[in-house]
Amino acid sequence: MVRSKIAGIGMYVPSNVVTNNDLTKYMDTNDEWIQERTGIKERRFAHRTEETTTTMGVEAATIAIKRAGITPQDIDFIVFATLSPDYYFPGCGVLLQRAMKMKQVGALDVRNQCSGFVYAVSVADQFIKTGMYKNILVVGAEKHSFGLDFSTRGRNVSVIFGDGAGAVVLQPTTDENRGILSTHLHSDGNDAEILAMYNPGTHANHWKENLASFNDAEMADMFMSHEMIDKAELFPNMDGPAVFKTAVVKFPEVIVEALTANGYQPADLKLLIPHQANLRIAQFVQQKLKLRDDQVYNNIQKYGNTTAASVPIALCEAWEAGKLNEGDLVCLAAFGSGFTWASALLKW
Ligand code: ACO
Repeated sequence: MVRSKIAGIGMYVPSNVVTNNDLTKYMDTNDEWIQERTGIKERRFAHRTEETTTTMGVEAATIAIKRAGITPQDIDFIVFATLSPDYYFPGCGVLLQRAMKMKQVGALDVRNQCSGFVYAVSVADQFIKTGMYKNILVVGAEKHSFGLDFSTRGRNVSVIFGDGAGAVVLQPTTDENRGILSTHLHSDGNDAEILAMYNPGTHANHWKENLASFNDAEMADMFMSHEMIDKAELFPNMDGPAVFKTAVVKFPEVIVEALTANGYQPADLKLLIPHQANLRIAQFVQQKLKLRDDQVYNNIQKYGNTTAASVPIALCEAWEAGKLNEGDLVCLAAFGSGFTWASALLKW
C-alpha cells in the first residue's frame, strides 16, 4: 500500500525577536499578563519590506527540499497554507513557484487559518496515495506583524501572534512502518465570526450586523471604505474565552479520532504536535489525554502563535532536537478560525 511520508522538513523564523516588554512601547500590556494567559515570552516579526509570507515560505521550503534530496525542479505540486497572503489574490503558491523557479506545476492555496497546514497535508496526502504526484511541497507561513492592531484596543489579539514559516516535502513510500496513517478534517461555521477578520470582504453585513461601516454610495466603497479604517475594522477579531472553550473540546476529540481510527491510544504516542494556539490550551489537552510532558511539543514561548506555520515549525524543531526516530507515532493536531479542526496521524 502506498502512503505519504515526510521526506524533508524545514522552518524559517525572522531574526527580529520581539519580547513582551517590547510590546509595552505600543500598548498597555505587561510581560506577566501575556505569560500567564498565553505562555508566550517572545515572538519574531518579519522585516517590514524584505520579508513576506512567501519569502519566509521559500526559506523553509528550500531547506525541506534539500533535506528530501531533491531540487525545486523536482516538485510536482505546491500546497500553500496561510491567512496572511502577500496579495489578496493571487495566492502565495504561485509567488513561491516563481521565486523558486519551479516548473509550471499546480499551486493550491489553502485558507484554513490555524488548521491550514494539517488541511494542506491531508490534501497532499490524497494526491500521493492516488499516484498523481510524487514530490509535493506543503508550506505553512504567516506574516502576522503586518495586519495586527498594536494599540491597546487590539491587545487581546496582537500579543498572541508571531511570524514564521514551515515546510515539508511529501513523497510516496511502501514502507509499512512509515508515513501518514490517516487525516481527519472538521468544520462548524456556526461560530465563524468569533475568530475572524471580516474586512476587507464582500459580506456587506449580510451575515451579522455592524461588521463593516460603509457609505450608501450606489457602487463600490463597500469592500473597503475610509470608515473601516477610521473605525479600526480592518483588524482580526477574537472572543478569546469562546475560542478557548471550544478548542479544549475539539482538540482532544480530533486527536482521539485519529488514534482510534488506527487502533491506538494516547499512551502510544511518541509525540503530539499541537497547533501552538496558546500554552494553556495545549496544557489542557495534555491533561485531558493524560500525556506526559515529553509526549507534547510546545514552542509557543519563543515564537507566539504562528497560525498555519506553527505545526510545521514545531515538528521541524522537534525533529532537529532528536525527538523523532523512524517509525515513531506522531500526531499533528490543530484548531482555529472557522471553526475548523483537524489531525494527522503518522509514523515518522
Ligand atoms: N495585556 C493586558 N491586559 C489585557 C490584554 C493584554 N494583552 N488583553 C486583554 N487584557 C485585559 C482585558 O482588557 C480584560 O480586562 P478587564 O477585565 O479589565 O476588562 C482582561 O485582560 C481579561 O480579558 P479577556 O479577553 O477576558 O482575557 P482572557 O483571560 O480570556 O485571556 C486569552 C485572553 C489569552 C486570549 C484567552 O481568552 C485565551 O486563552 N483564549 C483562547 C484563544 C486563543 O488562545 N486564541 C489564540 C489564537 S486562536 C487559535 O489559534 C485557535
